[in-house]
Amino acid sequence: MKAVRVHEPGGPEVLRYEDIPVPEPGPGEARVRLEASGVNFIDTYHRSGLYKLPLPATLGCEGAGVVDAVGPDVTGLEPGARVAYAAPTTGAYAEFVTVSAARLVRLPEGIDARTGAAVMLQGMTVHYLTHSTYPLKPGEVALVHAAAGGLGLLLVQVAKRLGARVIGTVSTEEKARMAREAGADDVILYTQQDFEAEVRRLTGGRGVDVVYDSVGKTTAERSLNCLRTRGYLVLFGNASGPAPPIDPLTLMAKGSLFLTRPLLAHYTQTPEEIAWRAGDLFAWIRSGALRVRIAHTFPLAQAAEAHRTLQGRGVIGKIVLVP
Ligand SMILES: NC(=O)c1ccc[n+]([C@@H]2O[C@H](COP(=O)([O-])OP(=O)(O)OC[C@H]3O[C@@H](n4cnc5c(N)ncnc54)[C@H](OP(=O)(O)O)[C@@H]3O)[C@@H](O)[C@H]2O)c1
Repeated sequence: MKAVRVHEPGGPEVLRYEDIPVPEPGPGEARVRLEASGVNFIDTYHRSGLYKLPLPATLGCEGAGVVDAVGPDVTGLEPGARVAYAAPTTGAYAEFVTVSAARLVRLPEGIDARTGAAVMLQGMTVHYLTHSTYPLKPGEVALVHAAAGGLGLLLVQVAKRLGARVIGTVSTEEKARMAREAGADDVILYTQQDFEAEVRRLTGGRGVDVVYDSVGKTTAERSLNCLRTRGYLVLFGNASGPAPPIDPLTLMAKGSLFLTRPLLAHYTQTPEEIAWRAGDLFAWIRSGALRVRIAHTFPLAQAAEAHRTLQGRGVIGKIVLVP
């Protein structure tokens, strides 16, 4: 089968589109014939070596398609089932992937494979950020960085659904328009405006209840200055590079703040937790309450181009690969 693999860490040019054997499902696993795979920032961390993988490795943590074989001990899942998944394991930039059957969810009627592959990883992340890491309550104020990214557009919609007021940051006017369309109440062009000062102004000096910060290096320290006393910084990504270390005494000095650095794998530990998060997402999509915007669809062979596009900040929504 065809797969996109990394043999040594580096830029998008290290991605190789090559032939490898079709994997065999082991105990507890299913093999999925992929119809679409999601492109996520974590794939660029795996490619660059920021997050280490044993090499060579097939990239990709998210996909959707049809179960084609099941390994020993797998019950309740038959060949032909339409499924989607997001997992800490890689292998989705390929025609087939083997995945722990416990991580697969069935795609309901009306949700196609591209949508499934587009929403599982970012959508379940948005679910845990807003329902578990910092459960948002009506009337609270959330600052969402990169509000027009793949994850950002989903986060804005879900935060609004929970009744929060959302302030988004974005780099361009076009992204500002899309973030507003997703429901953001206020949008700051953080490439032109001082977002700290703007947040203080927009909140009458109080600060926000929570900052969801996936940008990292260029925003994290200043995000602390946007919080109310005892507010929460949820630092969950490295789009501009990893955030610098933060001294616990800084958290005290800036108002007894809370800091967490969560990861999807730790919030999708059981099939029940996965079913809850994915079930909510699918229900919202089917009712029209959550819109999933697929910005680009690339052939699997053009995964390098997909990475350049994602890292070039040009994407409004999600990138999907199709084998
Ligand atoms: N911890 C978890 O469980 C988890 C799970 C999923 C995703 N994430 C994180 O969520 C973030 C969003 O992921 P995504 O796949 O949806 O990507 P994305 O938001 O579509 O793209 C990243 C965005 O970050 C912004 N950005 C700011 N500085 C940047 C820079 N120097 N280079 C590139 N982008 C920059 C850009 O928006 P502007 O142009 O508007 O600035 C860009 O569109 C990533 O940091 C990812 O690691 C974390």
